[in-house]
Parts: sequence; C-alpha cells; structure tokens
Amino acid sequence: MLTSYRTKTRTAAFAALVAACMAAGAQAPTTLKDAYRGLFHIGAAINDAQSTGIDTRGDAILAAQFDSISPENALKWERIHPQPGTYAFDIPDQYVAFGEKHHMFIVGHCLVWHSQTPVWVFRDDKGDFVDRETLLMRMHDHISTLVGRYKGRIQSWDVVNEALNEDGTLRASPWLKIIGEDYIAKAFEYAHEADPNAQLNYNDYSLETEAKRKGALALIAKLKAQGVPVTTVGLQGHDSLAWPSLEDEDATISAFSKLGVKVAITELDINVLPNTMHQQTAEVSLKVQQDTKLNPYADGLPQSVQQELAQRYAGLFKVFLNHRDVVTRVTFWGVTDADSWLNNWPVRGRTSYPLLFDRNGQPKPAFQAVNQAAADIKSMK
Ligand code: XIL
Repeated sequence: MLTSYRTKTRTAAFAALVAACMAAGAQAPTTLKDAYRGLFHIGAAINDAQSTGIDTRGDAILAAQFDSISPENALKWERIHPQPGTYAFDIPDQYVAFGEKHHMFIVGHCLVWHSQTPVWVFRDDKGDFVDRETLLMRMHDHISTLVGRYKGRIQSWDVVNEALNEDGTLRASPWLKIIGEDYIAKAFEYAHEADPNAQLNYNDYSLETEAKRKGALALIAKLKAQGVPVTTVGLQGHDSLAWPSLEDEDATISAFSKLGVKVAITELDINVLPNTMHQQTAEVSLKVQQDTKLNPYADGLPQSVQQELAQRYAGLFKVFLNHRDVVTRVTFWGVTDADSWLNNWPVRGRTSYPLLFDRNGQPKPAFQAVNQAAADIKSMK
C-alpha cells in the first residue's frame, strides 16, 4: 500500500513538475528512465567494453538513463558457444551482473539466427549438413544451457531472430533446410522448458513493410494456434528519417497486438545518412563500397538534420506511447553515436548519428524530444 501510495505521489509530483516546466517553456527535467517509468522499459544494447566496466562513461550513461539492457554481441552463438561443448560465459556473466546491479530488465539476444552462428553447428566431420535430429539436439543443448544458466535472471529472450525474407516467406537458412518449418516452434518450446517464466520473443526487421508484415502475422498466428509459447514480437526498428511511416508503425503494432502478443521495439536507431539499399533491410552480411558521397557529415551533423532527427524520434515515440498497453520496452541499439553499428554497416567507416547521445556522451535534441513525448503523455493523465 505504502509503495503504491508513494509511487502515486511521486507520479503526481512529477507530472506537476513537468507541467510547471512546460508552462515556463522549459524542457522536461529528467532522465529517460524517470520519464518512462510506469509507461514501458527504456533499454540500450550494451557492448563488451560496457559489460566489463572498461567504458566507464558508457556505463554511467547506462546506469543513469536506462532500465533495460540487451547484449549487442556477447550472447550470440559464435561468441558464447564457439566450439562444440565450449561455452564462453565470462562476458555474458558480467553482462547479467551489470543488469542486476542496476536493477534492470535484462534481455537475452539471440538463441537461433542464421548470422553469427559458427559453421560447425550445421555440419558433420566431413563438412556435410547434419541430419534433423542432430541439429535439433544441438539446438536443444544450446538453448537449455543458456536459458537454464540465466533462469529467472534474463527476463526476456529473443528466441528466433530474422526467420523471414523480405517477401514474407521463410528464409532458406540452414535451420529451415535441415530441420524444416517447425524449427521455430521447437526453439520456443525448448526455451519455455528451460525457463517457463521468461518472455519469449520472435524478433525481425522491416516488419512494417507490407509483405513481410503479412508473412510475420501469418507465422505468429500459426504458432499461437499451435500453442507455441511465443509471448512477444520484436520490431527491430532499424529506421531512417523517411522509413517507416508513422501510419505503418502504428498499423504494425496494432496488427500484432490483435494476435494476443506484446510488442517490443528491440533495436531502435534512426539512420540520417544516405540510403544505400534498394530495399529496407538490416541483413548484417550486406556490404556496400565506401564512397565519400555516402558519408556527408564526417565533420558534424548540420543543425537542420539534428532537428529533423529529434522530430522523427518524437513522432515514433508518440506512436509507441499510444500503444503503451502492449509495448513492453523500447531498446536503442547502442548508447552513444560512437558505439553504433551503423558507423560500419552497410558501409565501413561512416560517421553516423542514429542515437540519443553524441560522441561525447552528451544528450542530443533527440534525447529531449523523447523525454518530452513521455512528459506530454503523463501531463494528460
Ligand atoms: C549487429 C551488431 O550491432 C554488430 O556489432 C555486429 O557486427 C553485427 O550485428 N540485427 C540484429 C543485431 O538482430 O544482432 C545486429 O547487431 C543488428 C541487426
């Protein structure tokens, strides 16, 4: 009772403070996690230097601003299970300990994926594909070892990542070729068996585009009908200033929520650099040739683009906030612009500006815009 009274009092006091500041024309005086408390979790992907305490500046921002973390690479198969029977738990353990120390909602990323998975997983001693039973056994061993080790500590797992092609059909990954379509259901069953309380997520990119969204909706509906324990759909959210439209973002979240799953925005960043692809994608194996034309802001981001980015973040967060009954978290794919994978993907060596904190760890106008979006909702309550 006391806690809920305190929380209510704090929320009311917070709303009053925000209202007073806004009336005085000031910006919302808060951190991200304070702004979003009671709405949804605000997370960031954290890299090894941050998990192990080397990047003290990054850690200070994480601790102050975020209440959820995702491991950028440390829990991917090639890193945590590089050889048969060999698990590298050192950095993952430090990752989980960091989240626990700061009372965060801790995410596991990711169990079954076509990328960053060692070749040995799919092959026998002669280099041929293994059979269905062998691969299912390897998958079971991997999932039960990871999910079991962090049972009750990692609250949400990306169980299957990127199973779909851009046209909504199933990607012809070794998982599909060797096991068949039910590899997805099996992965969820194994994860559920290892930790029945964990949130289990199907994660993918470009689900806001029509064909892929349709394929994903059919896949999730089928899994739900079969009783497969999928609880959440993750929209990765590798967005740009122009894509996706707010209407498509809104329609996508609505469509998944109607299937009875929650929605998480799992890898948000907004690219302001020239688009280099003929279609909207976040396929990590793609590479585009370096060209100075593709790196126009090497010496700094013009104010006009900085403002455009802030407005774009405000627009997207309004959509997420309108769906706060089904949106469990919004996770940024990195802490500062210096950390972002978009400095090296799909073109190596670009200067990218996709996140809320600049290369010096300072909050950008986009940070204020995201905080203000939450303050606006709270002042309407
Ligand atoms: C990226 C990491 O950020 C990079 O450091 C790594 O080199 C490649 O993978 N979708 C995903 C993430 O699900 O795991 C990817 O992360 C980005 C696209």
